[in-house]
Amino acid sequence: MNPRIHPDTVLITGASSGIGAMYARRLAAQGHDLILVARQQNKLDALATDLQQHHAVRVEVMPADLTLPDDRSRIEQRLRGDDAINMLINNAGMSVSGGNAQADPDTVEAMIALNVTAPTRLVRAMLPRLLSQARGTIVNVSSVLALAPERFGGSYAATKSYLLSFSQALQREVAGHGVRIQVVLPGVVRTDIWERAGSSLDRFPADMVMEVDELVDAALAGLNQGELVTIPSLPDLGEWDAINEARRALLPKLSLRHAAERYRSDISEDA
Ligand SMILES: NC(=O)c1ccc[n+]([C@@H]2O[C@H](COP(=O)([O-])OP(=O)(O)OC[C@H]3O[C@@H](n4cnc5c(N)ncnc54)[C@H](OP(=O)(O)O)[C@@H]3O)[C@@H](O)[C@H]2O)c1
Repeated sequence: MNPRIHPDTVLITGASSGIGAMYARRLAAQGHDLILVARQQNKLDALATDLQQHHAVRVEVMPADLTLPDDRSRIEQRLRGDDAINMLINNAGMSVSGGNAQADPDTVEAMIALNVTAPTRLVRAMLPRLLSQARGTIVNVSSVLALAPERFGGSYAATKSYLLSFSQALQREVAGHGVRIQVVLPGVVRTDIWERAGSSLDRFPADMVMEVDELVDAALAGLNQGELVTIPSLPDLGEWDAINEARRALLPKLSLRHAAERYRSDISEDA
């Protein structure tokens, strides 16, 4: 009997529905063993049973509320110590309805804990092991709102900008060390996140809404193609490259000994 070749075990956060559940389906079909994390154990169990029935993979569930330090730390410990886990999909996320003057501050704090603190801590737990093994993959699920904060009130977009910025810093840190970091920027995707935040997908024209299987397939294709930043809807990746080139051109000018001329004339007039 041939021994089964074990591809990397993948830990997926937010695997009980939407994008995370679709990642689980696609990665199980590729033969990956999985660890599924989310709060709703019944949904995780049902998905695990289904995947194990259809694919020769092991699927473990780890129910956890990633806004709670004790729960989060159980996942961190597992990522730190389990050499079989070589891929992390930081997907769990939530949105909050209402602008910065209206949104419930405790819910906003929970969103920051889930969208910002949790992925940061999970990466911190796992990255030293990946670097020492010189292999592994981390996928951070951000949003196109990272590039368009003015399109959506409140602070959700800012949490997704953090994930983009965090991923870009990580990419620089791991370059040449055998570890891949991909950040995915979905547009509007048909999942429960909208209803959960008290919103509705009906507010968008149908041609702005991507189905979840297409989104995940595109994200995985981007990963296979070695993309660092995957924007599944964007037809011409050259437009993203142009923004980055313009941004890089600013870098030598952003920290100088003296204020720019336009401010110095004001300062000398007032003096
Ligand atoms: N759908 C979109 O239009 C869209 C666009 C851009 C980016 N995104 C991003 O895509 C990611 C996935 O969202 P989705 O659209 O698939 O939404 P979703 O269907 O609502 O899924 C969110 C997942 O996160 C889990 N989750 C929520 N709160 C949690 C907590 N406190 N602790 C642990 N897990 C928690 C949920 O499971 P439990 O309830 O079982 O905990 C669920 O599995 C998010 O990061 C989201 O910001 C979505």
